Amino acid sequence: MIIPVRTKDSTYEVHLGENILQSFCERNTEEFDKADQIVVITDENVWGLHQHYFDKNFAFDYKIHLVPNGESCKTFDSYFDVQTFLLQENCSRNSILLALGGGAVGDLTGFVASTFMRGIPFIQIPTTILAHDSAVGGKTAINHPNGKNMIGAFYQPKEVLYDFHFLQTLPKSEVRSGLAEVIKHALISDVKWSNEFLQLESIDAIQKEELLIWLEKGIRVKANIVELDEKEKSYRKYLNFGHTYGHAIEASIGYGKITHGEAVMIGMIPALMLSEIHGEVKSGYAHDIFQLANKLEYNLQHVLNCTFEQLATFMLKDKKTTNGELHFALLKHIGDPFIQVVSMDEVKKCDDQLRKWIKEEI
Ligand SMILES: NC(=O)c1ccc[n+]([C@@H]2O[C@H](COP(=O)([O-])OP(=O)(O)OC[C@H]3O[C@@H](n4cnc5c(N)ncnc54)[C@H](O)[C@@H]3O)[C@@H](O)[C@H]2O)c1
Ligand SMILES: [Zn+2]
Repeated sequence: MIIPVRTKDSTYEVHLGENILQSFCERNTEEFDKADQIVVITDENVWGLHQHYFDKNFAFDYKIHLVPNGESCKTFDSYFDVQTFLLQENCSRNSILLALGGGAVGDLTGFVASTFMRGIPFIQIPTTILAHDSAVGGKTAINHPNGKNMIGAFYQPKEVLYDFHFLQTLPKSEVRSGLAEVIKHALISDVKWSNEFLQLESIDAIQKEELLIWLEKGIRVKANIVELDEKEKSYRKYLNFGHTYGHAIEASIGYGKITHGEAVMIGMIPALMLSEIHGEVKSGYAHDIFQLANKLEYNLQHVLNCTFEQLATFMLKDKKTTNGELHFALLKHIGDPFIQVVSMDEVKKCDDQLRKWIKEEI
């Protein structure tokens, strides 16, 4: 299956399917033969689990550069190390980078590719469910001690190869994390699809075939929005649904101590409460999603470990906050997003309500 992504300056394809690494090589033989170096950037976990599959199916000579696992690779140090490696290996503008990993490896590699010799081609090979989102759309970044994803660029990959083979080794916590972004894609695009999730009883109950259909749908939602607004001037802000409060939770708990998706799942609950007030989402939907989050064992207790004051401080620092005004992506109806300026008092009320629900569940 192929999903095209057309932005103003480039068009590329997302290829999805199981065991498609070999056909990827066949399709790109000419490009890879022309390249003076092919460098695979991946993390130690992914490489430990998938080196064998990669070597069996990847038909070209390559250099490998390992970075620390997960979020810890999105640092200035890792960025510097990759650049040093590329220089030592005499890479040039005719070299190609392959980002083999989750969103963290993808974000780092994309940013390196955007700046090495003022920009060299890179290909995303996502290995997590969450990366169905992060690998598409060209947002690349590393973290600064003062804020996550603060240093980065919009830089599109040449192709996204989503080989579902890699997903087999994901631990349940990462399935849960990635699923939150899938649910987000459903909530901002399709009421029928959103309601399907409400029937879900547990993470283990997800059928593989079902998941693959969801991932395809999620990528289509993301691709459509990126085509309309690559640089986040308008429509792309809808993808931040659940992220204003979610990012604040993530920052308060500490990056790496809570998965991105878990924070987003939490953040979608107040966003739905606000959508019941500012939109026409039927009363009770926020509570339905709260219960879904409980059933799927998202750790909502994280909220109780942060004070609202902490969350408020982070929300005010959010890249989307301008002049102290909180710009929330909300839903008019399920599937129909819009942007609303929301006061901190209103967010506090939702936060109070959420804490009450969580305490009632304990
Ligand atoms: N660029 C974007 O548009 C965008 C969108 C959403 C999130 N992000 C970023 O993505 C990052 C999160 O991505 P993520 O959730 O994929 O996490 P991740 O890249 O941190 O990976 C999570 C963990 O899973 C491991 N892992 C990866 N693939 C595996 C596999 N197939 N089997 C077993 N383990 C595997 C990794 O080693 C890591 O320990 C965050 O840094 C976030 O800011 C970016
Ligand atoms: Zn996200």
